[in-house]
Amino acid sequence: MKTTDSKNGLLKIENLQVEYITDDARVFAVNGLNLEIEKGETLGLVGETGAGKTTTALSVMRLLPPKVGRVIGGSILLDGIDIIHAGEADMRALRGSLVSMIFQDPMTSLNPVLTIGDQIAEVLIFHDRYNNRTDVNRRVDEILRLVGLSPERKNEYPHQFSGGMKQRVVIAIALACEPKLLLADEPTTALDVTIQAQVLEMMKELQEKLHTAVILITHDLGVVAQTCNRVAIMYAGEIIETGTVDRIFHAKRHHPYTEGLFGSIPDLTKKTRRLNPIDGLMPDPSNLPAGCKFHTRCPKCIDICRTIHPRSSVRDGHSIRCHLEGEGGVPVAGETAGGEQT
Ligand SMILES: Nc1ncnc2c1ncn2[C@@H]1O[C@H](COP(=O)(O)OP(=O)(O)O)[C@@H](O)[C@H]1O
Ligand SMILES: [Mg+2]
Repeated sequence: MKTTDSKNGLLKIENLQVEYITDDARVFAVNGLNLEIEKGETLGLVGETGAGKTTTALSVMRLLPPKVGRVIGGSILLDGIDIIHAGEADMRALRGSLVSMIFQDPMTSLNPVLTIGDQIAEVLIFHDRYNNRTDVNRRVDEILRLVGLSPERKNEYPHQFSGGMKQRVVIAIALACEPKLLLADEPTTALDVTIQAQVLEMMKELQEKLHTAVILITHDLGVVAQTCNRVAIMYAGEIIETGTVDRIFHAKRHHPYTEGLFGSIPDLTKKTRRLNPIDGLMPDPSNLPAGCKFHTRCPKCIDICRTIHPRSSVRDGHSIRCHLEGEGGVPVAGETAGGEQT
């Protein structure tokens, strides 16, 4: 397996570009995305439907739909491993042990004809974690307890569990081999509001206990405030603003898109928990506008925004990709204005 030294933490995505080829269009889903995660950190990835969040997570898992989706540029380095060029056998060994993904709908990841105990055991056996069945069984019980389910229920099938319990099973499977990175794609959206809070609280406890780094894809800013160290805001396949949660929630300056999403930023932690609807639609990803991709909806749009793709300006680790932020900011290494795909 090709490995490189990664001094910069656990995950480093640079200038990632992903497209889907459909019968009638070439969809530019991810367009020059940069993202870094340190070991044990929780990053909230926020953005409207269609922003490219799931595509980004699937790229890290190397699970883009075959023939339709493909990475056309950039690099993904996970724990020193070059994910884009790793062999298929290496990827199978990595999934579940180094990186796991929780999908939005728990039923898509559970097998309806296997008991939940067998499904957890299957992951442990696949990754050769235990020498004999007794140890596997003991670990299955331990993991079920860890996610708040009684081991006595391990011989039951998914349909015998409620939605919240099924998602706990999915989380148990994802964390069974203690991966260093967990990609949680809207893990609670399909659940009742009361159950959502319980499941998130449990995930947070587990994350702290196991020191797992998490990318939490969510629409709920209250969840970001309570659960994440950092937040990255995504629009039309790129990160337009990122920083620590503390910084983003207290900073005076933001990307106009973030301002639109958050409504009134000072009230964020108090009132505004959900993303605000913003006037206009996301641009068609098969026909993205030139310049800043947000310019067609931006209330602060100036001439340059229509033609030149803005680069990120960074102040104290808070990065904003907007022409209005240009002065005094420090360009992110390796970027040139307009140099990325538009
Ligand atoms: N299998 C696919 N075939 C074609 N287009 C796709 C496919 N999956 C996603 N897309 C498109 O890629 C863009 C990004 O989608 P996605 O990553 O699912 O966004 P998000 O998770 O932020 O809602 C959207 O325009 C979506 O329609
Ligand atoms: Mg999605």
